[in-house]
Amino acid sequence: KATNNTSTIFKKTKYLMFDLDLVKKVYSELPEKVKQAKGILNKPMTYAEKILYSHLFAAQELAAFKRGADYVDFAPDRVAMQDATAQMALLQFINSGKKRTAVPSTVHCDHLIQAQVEGKTDLSVSKTANKEVFDFLESVSNKYGIGFWKPGAGIIHQVVLENYAFPGGMMIGTDSHTVNAGGLGMVAIGVGGADAVDVMAGMAWELKMPKMIGVKLTGKLSGWAAPKDVILKVAGILTVKGGTGAIIEYFGEGAKSLSATGKGTICNMGAEVGATTSIFAYDESMERYLRATGRAEVADLANGVKEHLDADDEVYANPEQYYDELIEINLSELEPHVNGPFTPDRATPISKMKAEAEANGWPMDISVGLIGSCTNSSYEDISRAASIAKQAEEKGLIAKSEFTITPGSEQVRYTIERDGFIDTFEKIGGKVFANACGPCIGQWARPGAEKGEKNTIVHSFNRNFSKRADGNPNTHAFVTSPEMVTALAIAGRLDFNPATDTLTNKNGEEVKLDLPTGEELPSKGFDVKDPGFQAPAADGSNVVVNVADDSNRLQLLSPFDKWDGQNITGAKLLIKAEGKCTTDHISMAGPWLRFRGHLDNISNNMLIGAVNAFNGETNKVKNQLTGEYDAVPAVQRQYKAEGIPTIVVGDHNYGEGSSREHAAMEPRHLGVKAVIVKSFARIHETNLKKQGMLGLTFDNESDYDLVQEDDTFNFVDLVDFAPDKPLTVELVHADGSKDTIKVNHTYNEQQIEWFKAGSALNLIKKQNA
Ligand code: F3S
Repeated sequence: KATNNTSTIFKKTKYLMFDLDLVKKVYSELPEKVKQAKGILNKPMTYAEKILYSHLFAAQELAAFKRGADYVDFAPDRVAMQDATAQMALLQFINSGKKRTAVPSTVHCDHLIQAQVEGKTDLSVSKTANKEVFDFLESVSNKYGIGFWKPGAGIIHQVVLENYAFPGGMMIGTDSHTVNAGGLGMVAIGVGGADAVDVMAGMAWELKMPKMIGVKLTGKLSGWAAPKDVILKVAGILTVKGGTGAIIEYFGEGAKSLSATGKGTICNMGAEVGATTSIFAYDESMERYLRATGRAEVADLANGVKEHLDADDEVYANPEQYYDELIEINLSELEPHVNGPFTPDRATPISKMKAEAEANGWPMDISVGLIGSCTNSSYEDISRAASIAKQAEEKGLIAKSEFTITPGSEQVRYTIERDGFIDTFEKIGGKVFANACGPCIGQWARPGAEKGEKNTIVHSFNRNFSKRADGNPNTHAFVTSPEMVTALAIAGRLDFNPATDTLTNKNGEEVKLDLPTGEELPSKGFDVKDPGFQAPAADGSNVVVNVADDSNRLQLLSPFDKWDGQNITGAKLLIKAEGKCTTDHISMAGPWLRFRGHLDNISNNMLIGAVNAFNGETNKVKNQLTGEYDAVPAVQRQYKAEGIPTIVVGDHNYGEGSSREHAAMEPRHLGVKAVIVKSFARIHETNLKKQGMLGLTFDNESDYDLVQEDDTFNFVDLVDFAPDKPLTVELVHADGSKDTIKVNHTYNEQQIEWFKAGSALNLIKKQNA
């Protein structure tokens, strides 16, 4: 049991951070909203449904929304952003004309910090290297009422769990592992920056009503099994796509037996099966966690509406009737899993690892074991891992592999240092990195990684795709629980099963590791000296946001031009893309990430991955002005310089992949007027609309074949742009012949207003003026 034996700083800063009034408001409205929804749905509700239906946007009419089909407008309670994605989100928000964000929002500096030597040194190097970005994020946060978590304060999802997540709430975050907050009973969803801007600007946030997957947990974890093994098992069952478009709701006696942070780990990795989010209903573990993290008032309030912070009893009595899919896992039988390499859904119980690894030729020696990250750095995780490290020391064992610890927050780091765990890890050669993403996102300057040697690492993070941790495609990364990582790092072998195998100590004796032990919450309470939080100015109107004119990484956005009310004519074909054209093909990641806050610089990657249908090559298109072939951005820049509009033509499911708004902003910035495709990935289509572009589809798919390399496009009836009314476009070919085609669109009244204003933000700004 946690006590309140914490410092005054810990208590004081807590008050600055979370917004109790918000929680009060949500809980005061919850019973009535659930009642109304039930009246319409006429059936028992799952827990996630209660949260969704109680967070409908004001203008959204209540109806029995069809799961997996209907698009619904929601009003999330909070927004959280990490430093990489926050840059473009905030650059856009600045242009909304709002003085403060419409909902409580926070920025967390975690992704830009590189792990190399150890925490303190690395943090100071990263602060210097990213100074202008951090300064920018800090000043914007200060000006617009956004809570700012400085570099070193911790990883977004751990900090959110410790401070902001609350049962029954709904939040969005510009990071796919935002879903971590499901561990505290919140519907928390990862989104792109443009969505965050909408919510911060007070607009609705649209989501297709998710399907519901129920996971019934029976029994109780024992031995070496940990909450991580629940999701490693689920990943093996559902695979990386199995949760797409669905919320995974965990329930049953087994669910109640898990700690809140263990639940967080399980929800965090729901992203690895593609789930919209994952969630557990409110229970005593959450109450304990809320109290231990300085939020007793939230726990008291939650207790007052307990019955609505859970699914209806009938749902649990007949789960197959109310969930679209049902999975059952008996925790008592669950074995530790080690998932990988290269994909988190390749699930192997530890007892089968020896045979699997041998059969597949996976390197058996482990070079590094890494614990921590947003996924697994709770007090419970660290204390269990430390119990293994301690035994190693006592039993005369030395870790055979390198061993690193990435605390999820300064609160966790400070508390585990106070309680002696860091000391224990250091005694077996452990190295503590900064409270940041580091190796989890490739921010790991791992010595020798460039040699590309085949090697194995084990970590307690969530993703293990090729190159993710250290950039080496031959690093075989395996995901497992922190206690298993520790045991495997001590043994130095992937095929070590601590439940059955022995190790030889320095005296030549065979010793066996005892079962891990740990504490759910610190008996002395959490504590921290400097949590790294900076509250925004009460009145930010005088705060100046500085962006240097010659900056390479940041650029203030100029509002896009509004539509001139005329038909677009004389537009040249920029590229006819063939086959798959994802947001990665449109706006590549990798080295381009450093330009995420500089629209003009990042636009130099526009469509460089798209395949030109006329020559089968990437980044090589004909410049109709010169007849020469050149890179897509270069050709487009020349058209822009000459004031010539352009058109991009694409194939099926154009813009699938991530929700990054750069894929829509870059063409808009460089002067592309319309994207005409066989079909769109919906999020990208919406992003195009938000940026004031025309996203259109061929009425007759085979008209794609009519488009020729030297074509000029004339819109015939854009002046009559209206909902449900197709548009007509004339294709003028090089020989003077013409084809007239019909193109469809899905713009509603409001979205046509966005187009007319030049962007959704321009319209908001106009409305705020
Ligand atoms: Fe960071 Fe890795 Fe989590 S990148 S937010 S620690 S998934």
